[in-house]
Amino acid sequence: MEKVKIALLGLGNVGSGVWKIFNTNKNEVSRRSGCEVEIAKVLVRDKFKQRKVDVPPDMLTTNPDDIFKDESIKIVAELIGGIDPAKEYILRAMRSKKHVVTANKMLLATSGEELFKTAEEEDVYFYYEASVGGGIPIIREINESLTANKIMEIVGILNGTTNYILSKMSKEHMDFKAALDEAKEKGYAEADPTSDIEGYDPVYKLAIIASLSFGAKITVDDIYREGITKITPLDIKYACKFGYTIKLLSIGKVCPDGIELRVHPTMIPKAHPLSNVNDSFNAIYINGNAVGELMLYGKGAGDLPTGSAVVSDIISILRNNGSQYICTSLKNHMPHKKIKPLKENISQYYIRLSVIDMPGVLGEISTILGRNNVSILTVTQDVKSKHDVSLIFITHEAKEGDMQKSIDNIKKLTCINKVESIIRIENFNE
Ligand SMILES: NC(=O)c1ccc[n+]([C@@H]2O[C@H](COP(=O)([O-])OP(=O)(O)OC[C@H]3O[C@@H](n4cnc5c(N)ncnc54)[C@H](OP(=O)(O)O)[C@@H]3O)[C@@H](O)[C@H]2O)c1
Repeated sequence: MEKVKIALLGLGNVGSGVWKIFNTNKNEVSRRSGCEVEIAKVLVRDKFKQRKVDVPPDMLTTNPDDIFKDESIKIVAELIGGIDPAKEYILRAMRSKKHVVTANKMLLATSGEELFKTAEEEDVYFYYEASVGGGIPIIREINESLTANKIMEIVGILNGTTNYILSKMSKEHMDFKAALDEAKEKGYAEADPTSDIEGYDPVYKLAIIASLSFGAKITVDDIYREGITKITPLDIKYACKFGYTIKLLSIGKVCPDGIELRVHPTMIPKAHPLSNVNDSFNAIYINGNAVGELMLYGKGAGDLPTGSAVVSDIISILRNNGSQYICTSLKNHMPHKKIKPLKENISQYYIRLSVIDMPGVLGEISTILGRNNVSILTVTQDVKSKHDVSLIFITHEAKEGDMQKSIDNIKKLTCINKVESIIRIENFNE
């Protein structure tokens, strides 16, 4: 059996998972790849740090030359994260004629074009299954299993941290901060959770899968982003009352007037399968014009699920069955397509206002909405005191631009204490 040396860049969560899988599933890896894989070197920042896995000390290095200048190493797995030095190391590996596997969504979403161009020039494989959905095989699904389809719509719960927080808020009535603290305690949220809770992480992931699904060059700047920090227990309560669940959705849709791309908290019907994706799980709903609707569900993060995707990519390279298009289809050669401006997007809306109890309030608000083509489906009133009444509107479908104009005008009314929240509703053409 051919012996192949590989190297890991990083031995954190994902690197440790990859190490464990190569050790526990040694026979499966050999049988499926036809090779005896040896992890020859592991690049880390600190050789003396306590590790979750038992790696022989002489295998650890802090010198990247030990990997890039070693011609016997054929594949490099970049599991450092971030841009710098991950990007430089990937480019160095490719220029040293090494195949590369990465889990780095931020780097792919922001510098994908340059990386794929280099992979093509150097004639090396560049795989990235772990970058979206952790252990869920979404990249292969889009690039291989669904190639007969025109993908019309892709909607994902792509961030486990925020899904955990929203699940806790819904099921255990926690407020945002308590749920975030628990997510940190359980290791689902990082010490600095900004990328997750403000929606940057799912934007990177949507940029990758929307590019592949729609065959278009999509950058992070094309995607509207809103995090979950403003969601309150009261919004969760009303969502439940009206038959919805709130999820942080990543939405990509092909519309006659361009591609719609947005990441924001969304109310979805309780009966929709995405509504039942709880805790740190991820799911991706795809609508293809031939296959119809399908959904992938699984663990979107964690050492072993993410490691599973990384090791499968390495096996694909070793089998040499990963046809070149899988690795070059992201960004490189992709045309620009029209992105639909946010103000043209059409949604139903949930609007919660705090108002002063006085005659004519409802009439004034309804008039503004009507004047801007926003029609009301339901209105609910909850009186806390004469000075603080909650008015909750569910609208029919309206244009985002019309809704924004309405809200700007509603804010100017003297009866308004505050526009407490606006949440888009997705009914999946029900
Ligand atoms: N965690 C997940 O569940 C998950 C899921 C999907 C994708 N990903 C992606 O996978 C990648 C890795 O994530 P992670 O959670 O495993 O990160 P992590 O736990 O922070 O581990 C990062 C590793 O990289 C090493 N490192 C950092 N800077 C370095 C440098 N300048 N030179 C050499 N080594 C350096 C660290 O070394 P030391 O240990 O010595 O500090 C550490 O071992 C990221 O791109 C992330 O977005 C993660």
